[in-house]
Amino acid sequence: MTSATARAPGRVNLIGDHTDYNGGLCLPFAIPLGTTTTARARGDDRVRVRSTAYDDVWTGRLGDLTLGARDGMPAWVRYVAGVLWAARADGWRLPGLDLLIDSDLPSGAGLSSSAALECSVAVAVAALVDRPLDPGSRPGLAELCRRAENDFVGAPTGGLDQLASLLSTEDHGLLVDFADTSTRQVPLPLREAGLVVLVIDTGTSHDLADASSGYAQRRAECDAAAAALGLPRLGLAWADDLSRLTDEVQQARARHVLSESTRVEDAVAAVADADWERLGSVLTASHASLARDFAASTDELDLAVATAVEAGALGARLTGGGFGGSAIALAPRERVDAVRLAVGTAFAAEGHAAPSFVEVLPSAGAAVLDQA
Ligand code: GLA
Repeated sequence: MTSATARAPGRVNLIGDHTDYNGGLCLPFAIPLGTTTTARARGDDRVRVRSTAYDDVWTGRLGDLTLGARDGMPAWVRYVAGVLWAARADGWRLPGLDLLIDSDLPSGAGLSSSAALECSVAVAVAALVDRPLDPGSRPGLAELCRRAENDFVGAPTGGLDQLASLLSTEDHGLLVDFADTSTRQVPLPLREAGLVVLVIDTGTSHDLADASSGYAQRRAECDAAAAALGLPRLGLAWADDLSRLTDEVQQARARHVLSESTRVEDAVAAVADADWERLGSVLTASHASLARDFAASTDELDLAVATAVEAGALGARLTGGGFGGSAIALAPRERVDAVRLAVGTAFAAEGHAAPSFVEVLPSAGAAVLDQA
């Protein structure tokens, strides 16, 4: 093989946020927007990375892909270099590479642009060097991309995004249990039910790679709460344990984490019963918990959620890490325009920048588009 092109999607998380790194449950699905990488083998040991989104080309050598070299790289290149670094650490034999990247996913919008970039690079390079890409091999690939993000880029994220990008299938949600990282495809026939998920991008971006970010702080608070309970992860706690936490902030964070996994179970049950109203209520309850107990929302996200529900969405919530980014609203197709209009009007009235919208349905995970 001399070249391979792969596309990896972004995701929305239908429900189950800030549960992954705590060993809990979540239910993401892939969206039609994503990132495409073409990988070409070179005859030397050079690596050349070019993105259509940035007027920038990075060139180095395979031997430069070390943790020490990270700081000298532009931020977006670190995700690419991180995947190559993790692949080499895993024993992949890589040739020199030309990588061309193109994306229609907004970055910092909470739609997993980082994971889409990592996974498109990983799948294109895997196809190029003939590594397996069957469903059984994909959790390992997701883990490799997570290591790239955690260990190379330095973003303390939890693995949900990479699994969603690599394992999602059309018209299904991907139920992930982070107690053991097991996954199950949950039929999610939103199209058939006349529903869509409206993504409301507030245009306020969040940066997960920053060590002082709200995301990193929440993760540290969860780790501290688990340690106070003598547990390796909060997901192992029982509801009764909450009263043993004397620190109020830790107690609130833990209350969100435990109740959110229960809401994921409720959402899966509502979907199985095709009870869309109930699903909507569970989504809105999840937002309330993320806003109140987890303090991960913003004025824009709260406004988007409240306005969407008032305008006829069945439910709405922030999706992903929070602290900016996007909200999602589950709405009957015929009410989507009213929801968009109401949210746009409410943002203008509050003096917020105009949000952008995209309607999504559960879409396919990463795939090789072409190889030669
Ligand atoms: C971001 C992270 C994920 C997850 C979500 C919150 O998307 O990348 O690992 O923690 O936030 O659920």
